[in-house]
Amino acid sequence: MNYELPKGSRLLKKEFTYGVATSSFQIEGGVESRLPCIWDTFCATPGKVKDGSNGDLACDHYHLWRDDIALISSLGVDAYRLSIAWARVMNQDGSLNQQGVDFYIGILDELKAKNIKSFVTLYHWDLPQHIEDQGGWLNRNTAYLFQDYADKLSKAFGDRVYSYATLNEPFCSSYLGYEAGIHAPGLTKKAYGRQSAHHLLLAHGLAMQVLQKNSPTSMNGLVLNFTPAYPLTDSAADIRAAQLADEYFNQWYIKPVFDGAYPDSFALLADEDKPVIEAGDFDIIKAPLDFLGVNFYTRTVYKAAEGRDFIEVDMVGAPKTDIGWEIYPQAFTDLLVSLHQNYKLPPVYITENGAAAADQLDNGEVDDQLRLSYYQTHLNAVHQAVEQGVDIQGYFAWSLMDNFEWAEGYLKRFGIVYVDYNSQQRTVKNSGLAYKNLISNR
Ligand code: NOJ
Repeated sequence: MNYELPKGSRLLKKEFTYGVATSSFQIEGGVESRLPCIWDTFCATPGKVKDGSNGDLACDHYHLWRDDIALISSLGVDAYRLSIAWARVMNQDGSLNQQGVDFYIGILDELKAKNIKSFVTLYHWDLPQHIEDQGGWLNRNTAYLFQDYADKLSKAFGDRVYSYATLNEPFCSSYLGYEAGIHAPGLTKKAYGRQSAHHLLLAHGLAMQVLQKNSPTSMNGLVLNFTPAYPLTDSAADIRAAQLADEYFNQWYIKPVFDGAYPDSFALLADEDKPVIEAGDFDIIKAPLDFLGVNFYTRTVYKAAEGRDFIEVDMVGAPKTDIGWEIYPQAFTDLLVSLHQNYKLPPVYITENGAAAADQLDNGEVDDQLRLSYYQTHLNAVHQAVEQGVDIQGYFAWSLMDNFEWAEGYLKRFGIVYVDYNSQQRTVKNSGLAYKNLISNR
């Protein structure tokens, strides 16, 4: 089992970084030794998480982290992308929680000892609940609290970190969390979505300032997700609908960072939905990045509709993963090439890509054909983008192992390693074995 790439591909060079990714809330458990976060509260609210589950135990990585790093090392990857639970490393009074900091220092030191580069994300959606109680990302002060957290933590970590990302997918925090209500904290107002997005972007810019100062040798940047928008037909109305959706869901989060402005359709927002923006905010937000992390899973198709900017079309009959997302690798290449054409990008890392599948552990084997073919086609989509001139330096599989998939609970499995949640036993799936072969055969 291996993933095939054309001979001479940059993706077959030793310098190309391969990694696996996780996030704190999704794998750690160990809730008793940290403060509550918004996802604890959300999970405890009936009806929010499909299987009624929570992050109390998850993959018990809080206790099994040494074994997990041995597992990561056994895959032969160059890098591991993890996130820090803000609620584990900071006390409510804003001082560092040394026990929590030491937990991550243990991980970082172990990674270094195993020659694995650490890609650390500071915020992967698990806002401390006491900060949410003060308005969370709707409160401008949260951006400054985030800067303070980034400042203190990066000083405590010293030179242990290879790369910092400020935020993971601010679209999900703001739109899914404060506008669509699908994610914590579960609020549902357009104005909230737009205001929280602005404060998240501000938080990113403020954190970049302290990271570049405290940790000048690490590669510091931001991780954004993109779901490219395609028109259902080539009618002008459908094309316009797709463009508006693209601005709303994708460009909204990248254009301020590179161009210091929201997309043109900002002007279409009703006055009461427009975020409060202070003078100088865009100068902070557009701090130069050492790298851009791109997360990609699927595309969305849109059509025009009376009285609405766009509506989403369900592509009935198209190939889909177990979470219902269309498999459309061409969108990955198109996305990377268009980002390269539209923005002055720093080096790009694919910080997440992967697929949910209905995996079965059978005689010690997980033969995850759907995921194998997903990785095969998507690695080649990245190769195509490199051929077209995009500077892509690395690729991370989402995820190292099955874990808590947010509103889907434990029902959806994204790992290249299977987790038996009763025994906490890990089994490398066939997609993971192929990944290992790809990396070792370079
Ligand atoms: C993006 C998120 O960063 C990650 O937390 C999530 O599990 C995957 N996508 C799959 O939905």
